[in-house]
Amino acid sequence: MKKTILAASASIMAVALSFGTANADPAGCDDGETVIKFSHVVADSGHPKGDAAQLLAKNINEQMEGTACMEVFPNSTLYDDDKVMEAMLLGDVQLAAPSLSKFEAYTKKLRLFDLPFLFSSIEAANAYMASEDARDLLASLEDEGYVGLGYIASGLKQFSANKPLIKPEDASGLKFRVQTSDVAVAMIEALNASAQKLAFKEVYGALQTGVVDGQENSWCNIYTQKFFEVQDGITQTNHQLLAYGVITSQEFLDSLDDETRTQFLTILTDTLKQANQQVADKEAECRQSILDANSTIRELSPEQREPWVTVMKPVWQEFEGDIGADVIEKAASYSATN
Ligand code: SIN
Repeated sequence: MKKTILAASASIMAVALSFGTANADPAGCDDGETVIKFSHVVADSGHPKGDAAQLLAKNINEQMEGTACMEVFPNSTLYDDDKVMEAMLLGDVQLAAPSLSKFEAYTKKLRLFDLPFLFSSIEAANAYMASEDARDLLASLEDEGYVGLGYIASGLKQFSANKPLIKPEDASGLKFRVQTSDVAVAMIEALNASAQKLAFKEVYGALQTGVVDGQENSWCNIYTQKFFEVQDGITQTNHQLLAYGVITSQEFLDSLDDETRTQFLTILTDTLKQANQQVADKEAECRQSILDANSTIRELSPEQREPWVTVMKPVWQEFEGDIGADVIEKAASYSATN
């Protein structure tokens, strides 16, 4: 009888890695079951993606027992986001959900999601990501051998630094860690600051040692990675979306028989829908936990926030050619109605 393991522990990771094969079986999958490894970089729980991965593993392991078995590898314990894409094409991992900022080497269409101030709320972002238009954008990964299965929302991003940030000029001359996204670089440079692309697992150390002065991320990443411990405070800018593209390889999907593939995809779609409904509450909890840890959150009045919009939003024009003006306009329209 298979044990349902929702999140692999660090010791299990060590065993899996020491075996070093695609068939290493730390979660106790039964012989004959298709093993679906889901590798991601965030906390295993208390985070929209970590919780979504756990829920998916639970649903797959309960409903597909005897056919398929999912193992979740959180916290970059198996792969970084830059390595996971290669590992997927090699068949070493079957499911991943990198931040949409990290697909730049594969498609320029998903740059849409990095445009600053595109979505006014997580509800607006969720409504767009549930649309046919957003699903079509994932198809741009197909030429590279990936299949985009859906989106996981995470939250809107906030800035933090080693000094208070109230006006955009306060960021001038600082160095900010960004994801591997040229849109993020352009946005930071619009602040007259400099950007350094760094892997997620390196951010805390870089902030602590002064390699960078600041960062931008969702409440749950700031809380679960403890970035607030090594920053002066967090400024509530809500300036950019953090969301994930859930991907697999075409080769993996083709390896499943029709019935198994349909069941897997149905469970996945239902689970993502359920998980995305809980994102706003989780982000609010993470924000509160940061306050409970005695960190400073600086809220901006509409008048204080407006100059940030004025300075950063013009980067849209730079990337319009990659994304398409019509695509941008459609996505932005969700903020008017949600
Ligand atoms: C993630 O949320 O998956 C990581 C985002 C980052 O690299 O900042």
